[in-house]
Amino acid sequence: MNLPPPTAHNSARYRIEDVSHTFPGTDIEALKNVSIDIKPGSFVSFIGPSGCGKSTLLNAMAGLLEPSDGKVLINGSPVGGPPEGVGIMFQKATLLPWRTTIENVLLPIELRDGAKAVKDRTDTALSIIETVGLKGFENAYPGELSGGMAQRAAICRMLITEPDVLLLDEPFGALDELTRERMDMELQSIALSRNATVVLVTHSIPEAVFLSDTVYAMSARPGRISEVIEVDLPRPRDMDTLNHPDFANYVGRVRNALNEGHGVNNGS
Ligand SMILES: Nc1ncnc2c1ncn2[C@@H]1O[C@H](COP(=O)(O)OP(=O)(O)OP(=O)(O)O)[C@@H](O)[C@H]1O
Ligand SMILES: [Mg+2]
Repeated sequence: MNLPPPTAHNSARYRIEDVSHTFPGTDIEALKNVSIDIKPGSFVSFIGPSGCGKSTLLNAMAGLLEPSDGKVLINGSPVGGPPEGVGIMFQKATLLPWRTTIENVLLPIELRDGAKAVKDRTDTALSIIETVGLKGFENAYPGELSGGMAQRAAICRMLITEPDVLLLDEPFGALDELTRERMDMELQSIALSRNATVVLVTHSIPEAVFLSDTVYAMSARPGRISEVIEVDLPRPRDMDTLNHPDFANYVGRVRNALNEGHGVNNGS
């Protein structure tokens, strides 16, 4: 992919200190005593039952939600709003319907650096669009894209800003299996080449294991970290990783952790 070289310093590091969150005006306790330390350049996943607080946690990390208790720190400073160098992809692709794919992808550049900068970044945007398999749809409007295509366009819009940290909320949920595998490989290669820190929310156990250094299994509401699974598989990972003798073992450990957090024994 034709992305610029990695930034020389990537020390982005998140620390989540005893975070709990109850939505104001409700008694919905979405998170309870969550403490996590995310090292720079690492790839971590949150996995857990629907409604356990994964998006709430990610929104707190993105500075879009102030937790009712505890602290979220990035590089030692409290997150007070959307932090510099952090790219976010929401669970629902939020493309502007009146802008084409390429115009949506270049929107953050326009907002950050002004309309003049857009021309300089158009080739990069086209290259990213091609990487995710959307070549030919540069000038299509969101209404002409499928759900999975819109998700991929939203990924491009996040990558164009070259973030040091990627916060991804179920980015590939609407993709078919093969496209998803391809996107997983691309995501890994972007993360490795830029030494980016990636925080992924996913419902797929194999995807979490395949991509992550650390998988955080969460329990049903109020969301807590029920188990931390360190995935020690060699990188870069590829299709052979799926046949690595330890792969199934890690998948089994995450599955068991989810079953215990769920109070059932038939999968999540
Ligand atoms: N703005 C809000 N106001 C009140 N309650 C909310 C709000 N947003 C989320 N919740 C509640 O908080 C809990 C956690 O929601 P959250 O969206 O974080 O779950 P999730 O783990 O991302 O689920 P999913 O896997 O379905 O996306 C849920 O019970 C949800 O109903
Ligand atoms: Mg969610």
